Amino acid sequence: MAGRFISFEGIDGAGKSTHIDAVAARLRSAGAGVLCSREPGGTELAERLRDLVLHAPMDPLTEALLVFAARRDHLQRVITPALARGETVLCDRFTDATFAYQGGGRGFDTSVLTQLEQWVHGGLQPELTIWFDLDAELAAQRRAAARTPDRFEQEDLGFFERVRAGYRARMDAAPQRFARVDAALPREQVWQQIVAALEARGW
Ligand code: TYD
Repeated sequence: MAGRFISFEGIDGAGKSTHIDAVAARLRSAGAGVLCSREPGGTELAERLRDLVLHAPMDPLTEALLVFAARRDHLQRVITPALARGETVLCDRFTDATFAYQGGGRGFDTSVLTQLEQWVHGGLQPELTIWFDLDAELAAQRRAAARTPDRFEQEDLGFFERVRAGYRARMDAAPQRFARVDAALPREQVWQQIVAALEARGW
């Protein structure tokens, strides 16, 4: 029995984390086996690549190759086996983030990203992607209170506006996969939108 694969996306500061925990709790209480993971990361190798991607200076092609290398390891060791066991996999970011950050933010050639996507995961996509959509300026204000910024969080407003547009383009290309939530709303209302997206799928 194949399990469900749900990803969570949005620009830094959009507030995904607490909601991912809440979705996990909701699905578990409905009896599902739930595995929470993140990208880049989720395996020992992928977490080491994450550390490099977030902190070591590198060019956009290297960055794209490393996030896909991390993803390959994560898929092989964690995601695919969990789905095969019938578990629900909740992933904090997946390939849409590569199109948004490396494609949109860095302006890297998306046809190369499409090729890498095909090599690394073929037709496998999340069944549902919850996109926390937030204005770049609002996100920057929210981040200002947070910890020391990594390589992405140090980027300017224009970068995050391009990332947001990158997410929008991915949603427009596969609207049935996406649920956009308005992350500018108070937390409880954001949660209600997420619940509506799950209920719409009978989850
Ligand atoms: P994030 O998921 O926001 O974790 P934290 O909450 O600990 O900051 O950080 C991961 C960063 O990696 C985020 O800025 C987006 C970036 N990223 C990419 O640039 N490309 C990718 O393919 C992925 C998965 C993430």
